[in-house]
Amino acid sequence: MLDLSPKPGDLDPIETASRDAISALQLERMAWSLRHAYENVPFYRSSFDEAGVHPDDLKSLEDLRRFPFTTKADLRDNYPFGMFAVPREKILRVHASSGTTGKPTVVGYTEQDISNWADLVARSIRASGGRPGMIVHIAYGYGLFTGGLGAHYGAERLGCTIVPISGGMTERQVMLIRDFKPDIIMVTPSYMLSILDEFRKEGLDPRETSLKAGIFGAEPWTNSMRQEIEQAFDMHAVDIYGLSEIMGPGVANECVETKDGLHIWEDHFYPEIIDPVSGQPVADGEEGELVFTTLTKEGLPIIRYRTRDLTRLLPGTARSMRRMEKVTGRSDDMMIIRGVNVFPSQIEEQLLRCDGLAPHYQIELSREDRLDVMTVYVESRMDHSDADARSHLGHELGQHIRNNIGIGARIVVDEPGSVERSLGKARRIVDLRSKD
Ligand code: DLL
Repeated sequence: MLDLSPKPGDLDPIETASRDAISALQLERMAWSLRHAYENVPFYRSSFDEAGVHPDDLKSLEDLRRFPFTTKADLRDNYPFGMFAVPREKILRVHASSGTTGKPTVVGYTEQDISNWADLVARSIRASGGRPGMIVHIAYGYGLFTGGLGAHYGAERLGCTIVPISGGMTERQVMLIRDFKPDIIMVTPSYMLSILDEFRKEGLDPRETSLKAGIFGAEPWTNSMRQEIEQAFDMHAVDIYGLSEIMGPGVANECVETKDGLHIWEDHFYPEIIDPVSGQPVADGEEGELVFTTLTKEGLPIIRYRTRDLTRLLPGTARSMRRMEKVTGRSDDMMIIRGVNVFPSQIEEQLLRCDGLAPHYQIELSREDRLDVMTVYVESRMDHSDADARSHLGHELGQHIRNNIGIGARIVVDEPGSVERSLGKARRIVDLRSKD
């Protein structure tokens, strides 16, 4: 793999600023953001009043913990435009993220917000090894989802040549990767695997593409998956994180030279980790739920948004801004199987230990005699697809899951191509239990 480390002068000064300088900037911006939300969004005025706090109470960054949380339900209750802090005419664009049920969550951006977002995605692409003049293939979906357009504006800001292909039509993705010779691909990791399948199906060697780095996010993926993709394509696989409510992609990004977790762009977002049950903040280094406060958002400032994503905060390395560990799951993705807490990423890790299995999977939860049953649907690789080999692989995965996670699971190993593919975020869990 090519060395894509930054050269002196490649970075923004803030990326290597001292912690004191970052904290001072955060405090100044946080005070502005709290006031902006309180003065312009009725929801924040009443939630702060109810909690007995006022923006003037913020004297230090720690004082933020006196302010109430914001949740996805609050955004839904104020659907569609009730959380905007500027007149609707000042909103240049809206995006929406689909909720699991009912109405989507709507977010809005001013001209300045769009510009800041482009800067941060440009910074993220650069951290991943991208440079001006490179070709960037964007296979995140374009539309209300923030992935496509968010990546697009960032690649444009960095000065790249963009191939705005969006998701889907996998054969055409492969054709354009071969013909246009992109340096960078931006896509969900699960869809990258579908692209990989297509290369193999067509008898093409994915290691021969021009791709130098892939910027993967929008869903959890493990370090084992990173290895799988890096080896298959002979390119760097770097993690990008974000969520619509805070901005979209580019809230945090790994650095290609270290790949040791995602640096949070702390000049625009203030992170906290809380105990998901008590809501109390925990110290850096401890696991819990990630909470964000936006520091510069004009259109839709968010104060202490509960992401439901589970991770921990670590000190800066390649940049001075703190890192978040790879997100292993969401508190609402956690399955409790006969009392054991299990995340899909743990199953993924075990699956990738079995050489004959392809890296696609779906977990079905059902109930039999009042007991939870987990069935893991997987598929064999082409060269392990006879019935004997598949039964052996199912046994092997079952053992790994039992020995490492401590639960019994039914394993169904089917033919290559049998597990549902997504063009964007993969649907990892199918829960049939509510229908019982
Ligand atoms: O998924 C934004 C995005 C687009 C990020 C493209 C990266 C790349 P939403 O649709 O609002 O926004 O979904 C946000 O997706 O709370 C996480 O649970 C999950 N997620 C996003 N990035 C990662 C990641 C976009 N790198 C939700 N690792 C978040 C794990 C991720 N989970």
